[in-house]
Amino acid sequence: MSPPAKPGPVDRGGAPRSFDAHARSYDKLVNLNPGYHDHLRMSVRRLGLPANGAGLKLLDLGCGTGASTAALVEVLPRAEITAVDASAEMLSMARRKNWPSTVRFVHGNAENLAMSGIVGPYDGILAAYLLRNLVHQDAALRQFHRLLRPGAPIAVHEYSVRDSVRSRARWTAVCWGVIIPLGRMRAGSADLYRYLWRSVLQFDGVTALTKRMRDAGFEDVRVQTVPGWQQHIVHTFLGRRSAAEAEAEPPDGVLDPPAASLADIDADATTPIEGLRITPSPRPRPEPAPAPDPERAE
Ligand SMILES: C[S@@+](CC[C@H](N)C(=O)[O-])C[C@H]1O[C@@H](n2cnc3c(N)ncnc32)[C@H](O)[C@@H]1O
Repeated sequence: MSPPAKPGPVDRGGAPRSFDAHARSYDKLVNLNPGYHDHLRMSVRRLGLPANGAGLKLLDLGCGTGASTAALVEVLPRAEITAVDASAEMLSMARRKNWPSTVRFVHGNAENLAMSGIVGPYDGILAAYLLRNLVHQDAALRQFHRLLRPGAPIAVHEYSVRDSVRSRARWTAVCWGVIIPLGRMRAGSADLYRYLWRSVLQFDGVTALTKRMRDAGFEDVRVQTVPGWQQHIVHTFLGRRSAAEAEAEPPDGVLDPPAASLADIDADATTPIEGLRITPSPRPRPEPAPAPDPERAE
């Protein structure tokens, strides 16, 4: 049996171990974050799956204590959901909650899902606040792509601030003014929350992540942000496996990536991200544009 997890310095590959140490206080902290659960539900709705999800098989990667799983259940209550996480403690907190019989939790590494018997195909994937923590992000995205049925969507729900000076500044102010002190108070250690701050600053900007998704084979890649203080900080990165694609695919590394181009960023927000061209979405969007928040005006 491995020794109990202790707080300590965190790196990308070691994140699940650190989440073990913080699992008990995780829900209290995210519940203090206004919009956290709403934004997860928003990303699920943006998948554009048929109402109530009957007959669909969905994957929640990096489900943690089940906040993203709950969002899937609320929006698509009749779908069959497999929720995966590498942290045994986060999963144990998730399993203590009440779930319908359509939900199952699997302890496994999202970088090697076949090892945990996750082979697909799935009708949709949600990966909320996961990708940034993975070591081999390109390979992981290619694997998620392969697990989808042709035509099926993915929503990568993630912080992405690199392309915007204002987003980076607001992120740093919220982390050092609120999240890190709260983490220290509630969890007795702020290591995970300092890692959160740092890892988000180091992670892809919107342009880089949309390119990364296209290079992994996703088509129809587009981005929408969320309202609240997280506007232009948290985004839903959407993509789908080509409907025309055959099930058989060349092995990793020999995919012919589509030409890199600037992402289509939905004009969902009141202010554009500096340096990015905002283009209207080619299809009707289910989400209404968030009202400008004068309190947060930049
Ligand atoms: C910030 S939490 C997000 C949890 C949940 N999706 C939510 O929205 O609240 C990130 C989760 O990703 C998990 N994680 C990190 N690396 C992972 C990996 N390689 N495989 C599976 N889970 C991983 C962590 O254990 C943690 O529970």
